[in-house]
This record gives sequence, structure tokens and C-alpha cells, in this order.
Amino acid sequence: MIVGELQQARDILRTTQRVLILTGAGVSAESNVPTFRGGGTSLVWRGMPFEQLSSAQMVEANLPLVWEWFDYRRGVIAACEPNAAHHAIAKCQQSGNFADLTLVTQNIDGLHRRAGSTEVLELHGDIWQARCRGCETVFEMRDLPAAQRPPVCAGCGDFLRPNVVLFGEMLPVRVLEKAFERAESCDVCLVVGTSSLVYPAAMLPEVAQAAGAKIVEINPEPTALTTRADISLRGKAGELLPQLLAEDARAEIS
Ligand code: OAD
Repeated sequence: MIVGELQQARDILRTTQRVLILTGAGVSAESNVPTFRGGGTSLVWRGMPFEQLSSAQMVEANLPLVWEWFDYRRGVIAACEPNAAHHAIAKCQQSGNFADLTLVTQNIDGLHRRAGSTEVLELHGDIWQARCRGCETVFEMRDLPAAQRPPVCAGCGDFLRPNVVLFGEMLPVRVLEKAFERAESCDVCLVVGTSSLVYPAAMLPEVAQAAGAKIVEINPEPTALTTRADISLRGKAGELLPQLLAEDARAEIS
């Protein structure tokens, strides 16, 4: 059945000029980056749910613990490589197959860029950066002393925090605006590896659909989006995306 649906999705893409790809943690799952949800479970570290650790309240209450949690996550991600899904997207961007291909991610792992994607709208920030709580200057993690926790701003002396969006915080306005603009004008919104539970990111396919776009989803499990999607491909991103975005998309799938 998946073969027929995959072919249908390829048929839709064949006549498309403007595509928006929205990715979530599932696109990095085959790189061994843990997802937050899935299979009925939620990510827990040291007995604490990730929503509590990755929250604006925790930055205020226990910044050293937030740094420990993000150091742990960076350690996990540092050992991971981009997978076939990241590479398929990067190759498609570079090929210019679509007149307009926008990549929006909820991931903070930087794996899309490591795979060669140049323009990536990172809705939730970048785990490889830190930001001053006072003057908001952004620093690359590689430029900060690894032993200093929390690190201190070289400019104003305040403490730094991870440059990521935490629960209870706003998303970066310019990035979000651009993502919504592209969602409103795309013909196809391809939603890969996200539970579609976290807003405002989950609103992008809704906006695209309301403006007339087709929704194609790739996920091994049904999600909050599945019933609204035009096509929901049940499977892994690393297996399905390379087939879906292959340059010879005109060929039949056997
Ligand atoms: P979730 O962990 O909520 O969802 C991951 C999705 O990936 C699930 O629906 C899985 O079924 C799916 N999945 C697992 N393996 C996959 C594979 N190989 N290929 C494709 N899909 C696969 O992650 P997100 O939806 O990205 O925000 O979560 C959204 C936000 O919640 C995250 O960006 C993070 C978190 O709170 C912040 O940290 C601000």
C-alpha cells in the first residue's frame, strides 16, 4: 500500500514548484538523536520530564542544571551524523528541482546544516550556540570555555543560557514570520518526523492547507496531523524521503 501512496506523493511533487518541508525530531531519529515523544513515552532525564528541564522556569530556578542537561544533549548529538533523510533534503535543495524549497525545522541539532542544507529556518534555535541573559549577545559554543558552567558573557558579565527556545518562551519572530509567509505560499507542505503537537510549529501545515496546499506526511506512527493530511506515508524518514525526493521522480516505484 505504501508503494501506491508513495507514487501518489511523487505525482503531486512532480507538478509542484513551491515546497515547504517541516521537520521534527523524527528526521534525526535514524541518526540516533532521541525523539521527545513517540511510542507512547516521553523523554525523561534524571527522573525529570524534558518539558520541565527545557523550560523558562528552570532557567530562572536552576541555570546550572539547565546547562548540565544541554551539555548532556550536546554530547549525544556530537556523536551523531546526518542520515539519508537530511542528505536527501540537502541534495534536493542543491539540485534546484523545485523553484522554491523552504526547509523549516523544529530541531536544534544542526544536522540539516551538517548535511549541506544552507538555508534552514530553525524555529527552536541552535544547541551549538549560547546567548547572554542580559545583553542577548550570541556566542558559538566552540568559543566558550567548556569548564565554565554557567558560562559568563565576555561583554556584560551576565550568565549565558542555551540559545534555544524553551517551554514558556516565544519563538524568534523573524524566523517564524518567514516560515508562515512560506507556508501561505507553498503548493505542498511535506511534514516529516514530528508529532505535530507543539505550537506554533504545528500551525504551519494548517496555514498551508488553508491556503490551498497539499499536505504530505512521513511518520512511522499516526500523529495529530494524520487525519488532515492528503497523504500520510507510514515509515521512516531515512527510507522514504530519498525515494520521494529522488531526482528521477518521474520513474515508477517498483
Ligand atoms: P516528537 O518527539 O514530539 O515527535 C517525533 C516524531 O517523530 C514522532 O511522531 C515519531 O513517531 C516520529 N519518528 C520517530 N522515528 C522516526 C523516523 N525514523 N522517521 C520519521 N519520523 C519518526 O518531536 P517533535 O514533533 O519534533 O521543542 O517535537 C516538537 C518539539 O517538542 C521539539 O522541537 C522540542 C519539543 O519540546 C523544544 O525543545 C522547544
